[in-house]
Amino acid sequence: MRVLVCHRLDEQVMQAIEEFPGIEVTVWQQAGPMPRQAFLEQLARAEVALTMLTEQVDEEALSHAPHLRLVANVAVGFDNFDLPALTRHGVMATNTPGVLTEATADIAFGLMLVAVRGMWAASQAMRRGEWRGWSPTAFLGRDLAGLRLGIIGYGRIGEAVARRALAVGMLVAAVKPRHRAVEPLPGVEWWERERLVRESDVISLHVPATAETYHLCDDAFFAQMKPGAWLINTARGSVVDTAALLRALDSGRLAGAGLDVFEEEPLPADHPLFHYPQVVMTPHIGSATVETRRRMAARAWDNVVDFLSGRPPRDLLNPSVWQGQPDSL
Ligand code: GLV
Ligand code: GLV
Repeated sequence: MRVLVCHRLDEQVMQAIEEFPGIEVTVWQQAGPMPRQAFLEQLARAEVALTMLTEQVDEEALSHAPHLRLVANVAVGFDNFDLPALTRHGVMATNTPGVLTEATADIAFGLMLVAVRGMWAASQAMRRGEWRGWSPTAFLGRDLAGLRLGIIGYGRIGEAVARRALAVGMLVAAVKPRHRAVEPLPGVEWWERERLVRESDVISLHVPATAETYHLCDDAFFAQMKPGAWLINTARGSVVDTAALLRALDSGRLAGAGLDVFEEEPLPADHPLFHYPQVVMTPHIGSATVETRRRMAARAWDNVVDFLSGRPPRDLLNPSVWQGQPDSL
């Protein structure tokens, strides 16, 4: 059984992988995402692949991968997978739900706090020598307490952000999930999307990237938002139309934004977003803590071990492939 690991992971987990009996492990050792050509070549030999969200597993990749049985994404999001194509090719796919909830909620809350208090712009001004001494009127942000946070995407991460917001005295509304039965935390109100967009001071996005959520935040969305509101995106870049976001910043409709994800990653160093001090940005680090990355790697590996042990992987995204497994597994 040949296992491809597309990026060196947490050392404890790597050790478990490398010591697992009866498998041949190939680890991409170079820094940075695996180049496409190398990925296609390695995938052609692999039965199992541990992929990062930088590896596109699409029809082209699958047509090069006749032996492939399982791709285990080291991420909760799996928009890098063409799931229908995986299912067609009889390849199982898994993700890492639940283990990165708190880390990602911290980054969403952190971006919100930094944006609403203008901490980034103030810090930059200070570095430029523009701090003239304490002033009753300089560097004013807003109190988080009393602001209305609107959450679009009330999954685990959205709920964890709501918990943080309630703890500091924010008012919290969320759009009720359509596809799952879920109770809101005490203090969270279900609002229709339209009302939430119109009346929230801060909107935080926690939806997956799908055809339905593509450019959810477009010109019409920003035009509905409360003037002077903030947008926080720790979900996926494709949920926000960047050109529309820039227009909303230029018109003053948006007071600012906190962004951890971008339509283009890495964001080019000359991107216009860098010209806006009211936009706080981090380089897709929602899950980037030592503990969380270890749990994500371990969870992806658990899925592989399930498969190697003849059990259905715990986070299987396309169960029909498992049901169609031959007994000879
Ligand atoms: C990170 O963006 C993830 O989906 O895990
Ligand atoms: C995170 O684990 C989520 O699914 O919201």
